[in-house]
Amino acid sequence: MCGIVGYIGNRNIADTLIDGLKRLEYRGYDSAGIAVIVKKKIISIKAVGKVSALSAKITPAIRKELSSSKFGIAHTRWATHGAPSERNAHPHLDEKGRFAVVHNGIIENYASLKERLISQGHKFVSETDTEVLAHLIDDCYEGDLLQAVAAALKKVEGTFGIAVISSENPGQIITARRGSPIVIGIGTGETIVASDISAIVSYTDKVIYLNDNDIALVEKDNVDLRNIDNVPVTREIAHINWDPGAAEKGGYEHFMLKEIFEQPEAIANSIRGRLDEEQGTGALSGLNLTPQDLATINRIIIAACGTSLHAGMVGEYYFEDLADIPTEVEQAAEFRYRNPIIHPGTMIIAISQSGETADTLAAVREAKNKGAIVAGICNVVGSTIPRETGRGIYLHAGPEIGVASTKAFTCQVATLLMMALKFGRARRLSRQNGIELVADIHRIPELVKKVLAKSKDIAKIAKKYANAHDFFFIGRGYLYPVAIEGALKLKEISYVHAEGYHAAELKHGPIALLDEKVPVLALANNIPGKDKIIGNMQECKARKAPVIALATEGDNEIRRHAEDIIWIPECSSETAPIPSVVALQLLAYYIAKERGCPIDQPRNLAKSVTVE
Ligand code: G6P
Repeated sequence: MCGIVGYIGNRNIADTLIDGLKRLEYRGYDSAGIAVIVKKKIISIKAVGKVSALSAKITPAIRKELSSSKFGIAHTRWATHGAPSERNAHPHLDEKGRFAVVHNGIIENYASLKERLISQGHKFVSETDTEVLAHLIDDCYEGDLLQAVAAALKKVEGTFGIAVISSENPGQIITARRGSPIVIGIGTGETIVASDISAIVSYTDKVIYLNDNDIALVEKDNVDLRNIDNVPVTREIAHINWDPGAAEKGGYEHFMLKEIFEQPEAIANSIRGRLDEEQGTGALSGLNLTPQDLATINRIIIAACGTSLHAGMVGEYYFEDLADIPTEVEQAAEFRYRNPIIHPGTMIIAISQSGETADTLAAVREAKNKGAIVAGICNVVGSTIPRETGRGIYLHAGPEIGVASTKAFTCQVATLLMMALKFGRARRLSRQNGIELVADIHRIPELVKKVLAKSKDIAKIAKKYANAHDFFFIGRGYLYPVAIEGALKLKEISYVHAEGYHAAELKHGPIALLDEKVPVLALANNIPGKDKIIGNMQECKARKAPVIALATEGDNEIRRHAEDIIWIPECSSETAPIPSVVALQLLAYYIAKERGCPIDQPRNLAKSVTVE
């Protein structure tokens, strides 16, 4: 979603801010801007579209003019209030041009604040909620910028991550958060403020994550941290262990393709050191649950959004089949607003790649308020959900930059399987069954490699179907969530209308849409449910729909039922979702490529959805 960068130090300010924005590009946005103070005057430059459009506006003459300044703020915007336009792009200024603000989140009471400020003579130029902050700060300013920002923030309702500069207070950036992440990077003789560590990793590995209602005065060599009531607070300095190169394309045409191909290694990293071969169980110390604790869990609710929600659906099968624990999966927004029933023994598992998704975070808070045991499965270390749950499992998948989630999904599924194994072993699973499952999990990276080796065959099939307007994906059992995820991948990046259905459900309505122009991809791997899905494929063929099958290598019988086949290595039911989804990720990727789509930054989508 929106991205924030602020910088104080000796580097060229325009180049540094633009570099930071480029590193946030993957999050999705529609306009961008920077504000820098030169000779006590705020200079703000904005552009609609890509960061490159903004960069093009910074001519050598402007770059030279800005270079006398050593601090500034910048923003990429994903429109909520007001269309994407230069007027609505951040930074926003008060009418005297003394304060510039960049903001992520939503000011919910902006309309009433705006009305009051207008009646006091303030003049607004944009349709955004953010602009009220610039005017409010102006209203509260009595010489101390931190105090003015804190006073302004006390008047707002909603969520924010902000960075503010003022022509009255050179060399200072004020940053604060409530509900929208802010990280401060501590360099040597320089400090960076950002909404996401990817804008920081190339400068320093030392960071401070702000908590909600923290506000900080940031200078070149100093960070003064307080809470909104002006009480000093201390926050630990954390060390980021990302290799800065991990957030580069490394020779691949797109981040998405790189991340698809990284999966064997990413999954190996997720499972490394987390399996006990001797006891046939998972070794997941981050859960902080004893076997006695595990024995008391009598219900699991998984809350998540998007691709993480689909991983949760696979998790439901794992926990019920392996651990005998009744499990439900809830869209996180639904969970938070429908007053969920939580009894003693209920555990909530929040799944989120970014660890920042607003609805998933709100679900965590609701679950904690109701006394549930709450754990997170997240990828971004230090993000809000793992910090708030205090227990959980990091994926260690490395940074995921492509908007369409790929490696996070497979690592989430592998992690859920290890978790269900651990829970199962504390309950009904025998040591022998556990040992077999451990061996199965160790084989996953190899299974994925075998699918990746087929990428050229998948690209050929993609070419054949790239002009379809509609697509159906059908599956059963463990492969039902994979059908839904496969359809999501296709619609996200290729803009082809695609729906994932339970194979048995197709004839309850959607079959009416089938004809020779609507391909159906059937997950027909050789696992329980295959015979039934063959019947469903016949139903599709009878309506002239071209059928593409995902099938187990060597299963020649399937040739009679499908026009095209993507071969998947033989594997257990439990592990089948992983190699199968990798094939569907590649199919979606190559279809999107055939159609000339902007794969890493699909229209209207954001990598991390930090508003409701
Ligand atoms: C956005 C992204 C999806 C992602 C979802 C949940 O919609 O575009 O790819 O699955 O958010 O994100 P999370 O970080 O919570 O997994």
